[in-house]
Order: sequence, then C-alpha cells, then structure tokens
Amino acid sequence: MVLSPPASRHGRHAALLLLLLPPSSRGCFHATIKRHLDSSCVVRVNYSRPSCVSSAPQMPVYVLHALYLDERRAFMRSQLRSLCAEDVSWMLCLDRPVVASLDAAAFRCLHPCFAHNRYNPAHEPHISNGTLSLALKHKAAYVDMELRNLPAALVLEDDAVLPPTLWPILAAAAPPADATILFVGSYSLWPGGSLRAQAQRQGAPATAYRQSLASRPPVVHVLRRNASDWPPILGAVAYVVLRRGARIYAHTPVLSQADVGISYLDAAPQPQPEATTTTGT
Ligand SMILES: *[C@@H]1O[C@H](CO)[C@@H](O)[C@H](O)[C@H]1NC(C)=O
Ligand SMILES: *[C@@H]1O[C@H](CO)[C@@H](O)[C@H](O)[C@H]1NC(C)=O
Ligand SMILES: *[C@@H]1O[C@H](CO)[C@@H](O)[C@H](O)[C@H]1NC(C)=O
Repeated sequence: MVLSPPASRHGRHAALLLLLLPPSSRGCFHATIKRHLDSSCVVRVNYSRPSCVSSAPQMPVYVLHALYLDERRAFMRSQLRSLCAEDVSWMLCLDRPVVASLDAAAFRCLHPCFAHNRYNPAHEPHISNGTLSLALKHKAAYVDMELRNLPAALVLEDDAVLPPTLWPILAAAAPPADATILFVGSYSLWPGGSLRAQAQRQGAPATAYRQSLASRPPVVHVLRRNASDWPPILGAVAYVVLRRGARIYAHTPVLSQADVGISYLDAAPQPQPEATTTTGT
C-alpha cells in the first residue's frame, strides 16, 4: 500500500474545524463516551500465572475488540497469555450496531463531521459506522485510562501481532517527558508483507516518537512528520498513550479514521503556525 504524505494543512483544517464546532458538540464527547464505559464494555483480565516470570516491567494494555471476532480474540488472548500480561482491559463497547442505534445528538457529539483530507477524497460527510466504531473504541480506551489516572497504557487493535520481547522493548523506550504517543507498530512496512497489522517485526524500529513529536505551546504536543519517514500514516494498531496524550485525545471527537486521527488530526485543538511547517509533501 503506497500512500503519499498528506499536506500539512490537514492538521490545521481539523484544528479550525474543532474551533468552529458548536459549543454543545465540544463538551459532550467525553461525557457520551463515559456513559458507555460500564462493566459489559470494559472487561479486565490478568493473564499472569504463578509460572510467569516477567522479563521487564509491564504496562496496562487495552485491546479494542468486537466479540463476534472469535479468531482474533483467541489469537490475541494466546499472545497476552504468553506475555503474562497482568493488566488487560478488553474494550467491547461501541460496536457497529451500537453506533447505528445512536440518536442524532449522540452521533453528532461523537462524530460531528469527517475532516476533509487526503484520506477522505470524496468529501464524505461521515465515516462508515464500522470505522467510527473502531475509532470510538480507541477513544474509550483513553477515557478509561484517564479515569484510572494511568501514566501510560499500550493500546492494541485486536489483530496486532506482538513480539515475545514486547515488555523489554517498551521498557527500553524513553519518550520525552512531553510526548503524547509512542508508536509501536504500523501496517506492514516491509516488502512481501501483507496488510496485516504488525505490532513489531524484527529489525523494525520499536518507536517512532523521535521522528514525530514536536512541541506546540502551551501544552499540546502534536505529530510532526519528517518527509523521509515511512509510512506517512502511523498505524493505530499498537501504540503507547502517555498521560498527556490521553488527556488530549479523550476529549476530541472523532473527525477521521483512528490512524489518521492519531497521526495528524486529533492532537491539534489549537492552530499553531510553527507546528504546520514540516509535514512531508
Ligand atoms: C496478576 O496475577 C499475578 C499472579 O497470579 C499476581 O502476582 C499479580 O499481582 C496480578 N496482577 C494484577 C495487576 O492484578
Ligand atoms: C449508521 O449509524 C447511524 C446512526 O448512528 C444510522 O442512522 C445509520 O443508518 C447507520 N448506517 C448504517 C449503514 O447502518
Ligand atoms: C528525517 O528522518 C531521517 C531518517 O530517520 C533522518 O535521517 C533525517 O535526519 C530526518 N530529517 C529531519 C529534518 O529530521
């Protein structure tokens, strides 16, 4: 899959868009997500056993999942078991049928519009309900993370392939104090690879924060793409959200697909000229 980098103005468009939204749809996003976070939505599991020896410190994990996907669940579960993951939250809410049954006001709160960008070339007014469902599961993880006051958590789409060395990889990462997100994986970056999501492959960079974070005063830190970096969209299949990131993303409605959102749009509530200059073109 060859995608060329979107122009830097997309982030700015989204930022302006957010400012233009009516106040009602700015405040209600977080509250609407929170209403869905009950015990049938968030299922916490400890996959550690007495025989487990953890090779490095762990962090809480969120798995974004829909219960009808049995094979994915079984595969993810087996990976988490072999990693002895102690603190796993399965995010089971906001499935597509739930999205389809939202009333108009709730729908507007969660997804006021589909930001026009390279990945929405036809100017569709809304993303599909299935895509929205996935994007909302990402958001639900941030909201839950914020409610638990977690400093960091690993967010996984349910088809992520995890390396046996996941914990040491994450433990070795040293994101800057002001980082929002630490990218762990993406869609296949390697020749011969399929589009299957890969959390990590041998030889792949473990993290992408160094190439993608830039400060945007006063408190918001957003992605800054480097034109020679690949891919232009950092996949949302596996990434660490840091406290600062959760605080920002948990309050921003869905304006695009999850991966475009975390790569470009969602962390841009304020247009700042200096942060819109280095996106590859
Ligand atoms: C998970 O279970 C293991 C072993 O059964 C235990 O040592 C650990 O404290 C538990 N972790 C959490 C977060 O509950
Ligand atoms: C998508 O969801 C909206 C409401 O949330 C609903 O009106 C619409 O019919 C759904 N579309 C499909 C194709 O199910
Ligand atoms: C962009 O990334 C490449 C590869 O990681 C690096 O060699 C180059 O110095 C970076 N350029 C800038 C302007 O940061």
